[in-house]
Parts: sequence; C-alpha cells; structure tokens
Amino acid sequence: MITNDPGLEIEPLREPCLLVIFGADGDLTKRKLIPSIYNLAAAGLLPSHYAIVGLDRVPMTTAEYRDKITQALPDFAGRAVDQALWQNVRDRVHYLIGDFQNPQSYRKLQEFLAELDVESRTGGNYLFYLATLPGLFSEIARRLGEWGLTTQRHGHWRRIVFEKPFGHDLESARALNRELQRVLAENQIYRIDHYLGKETVQNILVFRFANGIFEPVWNRRYIDHVQITVAESLGVEHRGRYYEAAGALRDMVPNHVLQLLSFIAMEPPNSFDANAVRDEKAKVLRGIVPLSSLDVLRCAVYGQYGEGTLGGKPVAGYRAEPNVAADSRTETFVAMKLFIDNWRWADVPFYVRTGKRLAKRVTEIVVQFKSAPFMLFRKTAVEQLDPNVLVIRIQPDEGISLRFDAKVPGPKVRIDTVDMDFQYAKYFGNAPSTGYETLIHDCLAGDATLFQRADSIEVGWSVVQPVLDVWQSLPPPSFPNYNAGSWGPSEAHQLVRQDGRNWWSGG
Ligand code: BG6
Repeated sequence: MITNDPGLEIEPLREPCLLVIFGADGDLTKRKLIPSIYNLAAAGLLPSHYAIVGLDRVPMTTAEYRDKITQALPDFAGRAVDQALWQNVRDRVHYLIGDFQNPQSYRKLQEFLAELDVESRTGGNYLFYLATLPGLFSEIARRLGEWGLTTQRHGHWRRIVFEKPFGHDLESARALNRELQRVLAENQIYRIDHYLGKETVQNILVFRFANGIFEPVWNRRYIDHVQITVAESLGVEHRGRYYEAAGALRDMVPNHVLQLLSFIAMEPPNSFDANAVRDEKAKVLRGIVPLSSLDVLRCAVYGQYGEGTLGGKPVAGYRAEPNVAADSRTETFVAMKLFIDNWRWADVPFYVRTGKRLAKRVTEIVVQFKSAPFMLFRKTAVEQLDPNVLVIRIQPDEGISLRFDAKVPGPKVRIDTVDMDFQYAKYFGNAPSTGYETLIHDCLAGDATLFQRADSIEVGWSVVQPVLDVWQSLPPPSFPNYNAGSWGPSEAHQLVRQDGRNWWSGG
C-alpha cells in the first residue's frame, strides 16, 4: 500500500507495458481513460517504463492528438493538472490512424508496437483497451490474434479490455464469449463493469466481511427485503442511437445492478483471489429464481419518461430526444422483484429499479431488517415499531447509515427513528478519481477480481432474458408513462406496495 496519493491506496505497478487504446478519439478515452492514466501517474503508480498508443480513424498527427487530450484533461481529471507531471505522461502518448476493420491497420500497428516496445523498454507487455462500438469486439480480437499480437511468449503478457455492453442478449453474449475464447485464454480477457471501479461498491465486501456484527444477521431470518436503486436524473443525452436498441433493462440490469446484487448477496469467498470472488458472485447470480412469463408480468415493470420538470426546469420527453423514434417503445425505466433460491436468501425479495430522468441521481442499496416483536409496547402510546434499515449510499452522497428506534425524551414512552450516519467525504475526504483508475491499474497488474468472467456475464443475461422475451411479445406499451423528474411509473410503486412495502427514496 505505498502511494503518495491518499485516494489511491493500491500497489504501484512494476511491470513495464504498452497501453493501446482502440477508439482513442472517443468520449470514453477523453473523459475517463486519459484522466485515469494521469491520476495514476499523479499517485506514482505507473511503472517507470510505459507508453500509450491511441488508435482511431480520424486523421491526426501525434502532436495534434497530444494537444487535443491536453485541452480536455482539466475538465475530467478532477484535480488541478500538474504541468510537469502531465508533460511526462503526454510525451509517452502516440497516435496512429487506423480503421479497425482493415487488416492493413493491424500490420501497421504490429510494426509500430514492435518498434515502440524496444524504444520504450516495455518488455513486450501489451494491454489493448477496446473503447469501441461493441459490434467490433470480436473482429478486433480476432485480427489482433491473426497478427500475433495476443500471443504470450517469453514471459510477456497480452491482455484485452472490453467495455460494456457485452452482448445484447444471452445468445449474443454466449457467441461473443465463444469467439473471444478462440483467440484468448480467459485470463487474458478483462470485461469491464465500471461499477466495480467505484470505491463504495468495493466497500460492500469490506463492510460485510471485515465487520463481525453484520454477517450473523445477513440472512432471511433477520432481513425482510433488499432494495437496489440506480436512479439517474440525466436523460438519454446524445446516446439516443445506442439507447434505442438497448433500453434501461439491457443497459443497466445484467451488468451494474446485478453486480451490486451479487456483492450484497454473495457468500464470503475463501480469499480475495480473483477466482474465489468471481466463483461466489457467479454462484449467487445462478441462484436467482428464473422468471416465468407470468412472473415477468407480475414482477417486472417498465416505463418511458415523458416531458416533465427537473430542478425547476422543463425537460423534454424521451421521444423528443435526438436520434429517438417519435413512437419509440424503448423503456427508460425498469423495476423488478427477484428472489434468490438459496439457504441464506430463500423468500427474501430483492426489489431493483433503475431509470433515466428520475427525480434525482442516487444509487443506493437498502437492507430492511425484520421488525422486533411488539408485545412490550402494547400498553404504551407506541403504535408501531419501525424496522431497522441499513442504507448503503453508493453515489453521489457516498456513505452508510443505520436507522434504529430511539426513545423520545420525556415521561411517556414515545419512539422515533434516528440515523447513525457515516459519510465518506467526512472521514476520507474527496479523492479525485474517475472510477477507472483502479480498473486500469488492475488490468495492468493482471488482477481480474473486479472484472466479469464469462460465466457471470452469461448468467446476468439469463436473468433478464425472459423479461426481454415477454416484453418483445407484448403489444406496444402505452408510453410515456412517467414524467421526467418523477420516481417512475405508478406500477413501480405498486410492485412494492402490493407486498406492503415502500421504496426508500421517492416512496
Ligand atoms: C453506463 C450506462 O454503463 O452507466 C449509462 O450505459 C449510465 O446509460 C451509466 O448513464 C451510469 O453510470 P454512473 O457511473 O454515472 O452511475
């Protein structure tokens, strides 16, 4: 744990390497990848010998590319840019014009990397980061393989990082896994879910397994239900084209939402070794009770935002967003009730919901415990005992709070609920981070713990596949069915109310 940045308590990288970014001119590179590399450099975590090669179709020289990322950096690094430090990073960045579907680009890349590898003393270690359209993943991997760029020899490593989405349904995810596994060993494949880069998500495991008091009550005997909310106030922005084909379910549930669920519900792994953690995650996801068609109708709700008001300002409905069809039936909201069929969780509902243009941006996990028996209070003015609730706030107001009942001071027995609250910012300060630093660090270090293995990806898709199938077969829904700035369609409230419960935020 030696670093000169309190925000990044991870080991400095020792092995030299070349980082090759496919999609170097894209949004992700500008907003997340380059700023993360800078933050890693600022934390003193990058190896002495490394270089970065950006590849994209846009004609540009290396000097022009360096200028472009230099201009964008201050907006996304989350900290003041130290010019001397950035100069050192910037000088290691190179740009290559290339068409990802043209074999000649790979020949050029192979030659370029071979020279740069010698010049930069990077020891033949290459990390390819595919920040491209997902439709190109398998072709790029195959072509890299054909040009020998994925072959691991003489002690060097070759790895490929895949951004999400990984497939668009179960069948395509399986096919993609098969295609990649033809070229790469599983331990060369890093499937990113950027939620796993979030400190608060990683902390779920520490919270559960480093504290003795929670694990004994972390089961069906004491827990009434769990809620997972991933609410965004943003709309679809400029991503209409992608989102029209994806929708909220594909975009958020098999990946981010189920990652949160697996961290909350998994059994303790034997160690923090990548496979030990990933085995337990896959096991709990495999325990999710498959939804029948009838279950989908009863336990899955969808919605699309119409126009509304957010932060006092009028906002457009989804169908009026750029690149969205005027009669679009794409859902921008989904809520589901899931059960996990195992000894720990049998009969405990997991309510999950996610959506765009909701009242506020909040990602939180709410664990509601069963109420204490009431009999002691029968002869008092107390009408009911409120259950204990643990709220794990993933973002933006990162923290954890525990709600319990307390006596209101005074001669009569009166009870109110109070909160014990932990806020990250208060204890640890706000460390500048894009959430990608740990992920990039870990793929360079060869630690796949925070990346998704083929089986988890497939089991994630198999959870949502029945929902996709049933929705596809239904007549067009009457969208829009919730106002921008609200907490989603009334059916989502009904989903929990029919069980005598309420959503924690936005009831
Ligand atoms: C992405 C989705 O994976 O996650 C986006 O494609 C979504 O639609 C984003 O907005 C949410 O990420 P975060 O880190 O802002 O919660």
